[in-house]
Amino acid sequence: DWSMGTFIEDSVRAIREQVGDKKVLCALSGGVDSSVVAALIHKAVGDQLTCMFVDHGLLRKGEAESVVETFGKNFKMNLVKIDARERFLSKLAGVSDPEQKRKIIGVEFIRVFEEESAKFGDHEFLGQGTLYTDIIESGTATAHTIKSHHNVGGLPEDMKMQLVEPLNTLFKDEVRKVGEELGLPADIVWRQPFPGPGLAIRVIGEVTEAKLEIVRESDAILREEIKKAGLDREIWQYFTALPDFKSVGVMGDVRTYAYTVGIRAVTSIDGMTADWARIPYDVLEKISTRIVNEVDGVNRVVYDVTSKPPSTIEWE
Ligand code: XMP
Repeated sequence: DWSMGTFIEDSVRAIREQVGDKKVLCALSGGVDSSVVAALIHKAVGDQLTCMFVDHGLLRKGEAESVVETFGKNFKMNLVKIDARERFLSKLAGVSDPEQKRKIIGVEFIRVFEEESAKFGDHEFLGQGTLYTDIIESGTATAHTIKSHHNVGGLPEDMKMQLVEPLNTLFKDEVRKVGEELGLPADIVWRQPFPGPGLAIRVIGEVTEAKLEIVRESDAILREEIKKAGLDREIWQYFTALPDFKSVGVMGDVRTYAYTVGIRAVTSIDGMTADWARIPYDVLEKISTRIVNEVDGVNRVVYDVTSKPPSTIEWE
């Protein structure tokens, strides 16, 4: 039986023992796991920790700012923010295949991380938010498997740093409890799963800044309305996606030819299977009206009513 109080005490002690007076580097994505790891290591060794946050420009609206606010300002961690937005966007230019997009983003993330972490040559440890489930999923039951399959947190194998993985005995719900206990804000602790490649796989086909902007803005409206309706904790994931086509509409008495935004919302236990969420019609109505009125370049909103299987949660 698991007790959070002792877990935090025990792992703070273990981290101090492992790290001694050496320095630790953490890749912070703003997701639950990397956030809790950063907060835990920070509690253990304070200023010996430096967090690196790579802004690849594929995050949701307000997320980069919230990472800086929470970890830099509130927790006063050593936080290095790398603005790699241009870099990722130019690598993605002209690429429309989903798997190729994933690959490019994964490789580019590792490159940026290597280049930037080389500037901190004296960091001997690397903090990773590996969970118990990650170890099971990757098939090798060793605590030193680097999580490379799914997350942008996947880091190079030949990294010289030793891993610090204090969450590797925990399940997600336990990680959330630890996060709450460590004083992380609710919007981080309860953040819905977000894919490493971010909004790049929610812009169907080629990724451009203009299309990212449509996804970011429509997604922000969706999140706001879902929260207002009190549905944010019961829906596993909810987001907007931008299909690669335009259709005809009419606004006032003017014919429009603009993009369609797709809403995806599912309930799930683990993301392996999922059911489309029965969002009340009046909530959908509000979301649709707001998106068309407030987001430039959109004249139609559709709701995805397929479950997984046969669909996947993401559209790419
Ligand atoms: P699918 O779309 O396969 O998604 O039903 C299942 C869960 O995994 C997330 N997902 C990803 N996460 N990198 C990630 O880190 C990816 O490339 C990726 N693709 C899907 C998805 O958001 C859902 O939670």
